Amino acid sequence: MSRAIYPGSFDPVTLGHLDIIKRSAEMFDELIVGVLVNTAKSPLFSLEERVNMLENVVSDIPNVRVVGFEGLLVDFARQNDIKVIVRGLRAVTDFEYELQIAQSNRKVAPDIDTVFLTTNIEYSYLSSSIVKEYASFGVDVKDFVPEHVREMLCERYEIENA
Ligand code: PNS
Repeated sequence: MSRAIYPGSFDPVTLGHLDIIKRSAEMFDELIVGVLVNTAKSPLFSLEERVNMLENVVSDIPNVRVVGFEGLLVDFARQNDIKVIVRGLRAVTDFEYELQIAQSNRKVAPDIDTVFLTTNIEYSYLSSSIVKEYASFGVDVKDFVPEHVREMLCERYEIENA
């Protein structure tokens, strides 16, 4: 059985993330969406909230499971017999950071590979940070995130849910 993990902060999950989830779910028997703590970021949504959001958003994809955890990604992968890490690349600006993480992970866990999927061009400009910035100023983010996430953002920023 082929099993892969798509890890990220998902604070919040965007349509760009969802596109990567759908495409990688077709490539593997099971895709685990790993909701992780990125120590370089302070999230708007708690780990539990992010897991709940993702579960709602992927509920119609049968071979996708959402798991939240703190700790090293490669440790979790090993414990769960996962050999592939999936990451999305939006533009060349992502590449240096992604390469550094992939090479580091490979150094400490040579049995685990990272594969990159190029983001759908439609979402190549999109990031969770941009979504939060727009939402915080009351801009409707319906073109950027699933409806459930839009509602959560409106609630968090106390915006009337139009
Ligand atoms: O969505 P992000 O914030 O770019 O995802 C980065 C993430 C969460 C995948 C990365 O920070 C991570 O793997 N964190 C878990 C801890 C870990 O394994 N660190 C070593 C590689 S940086």
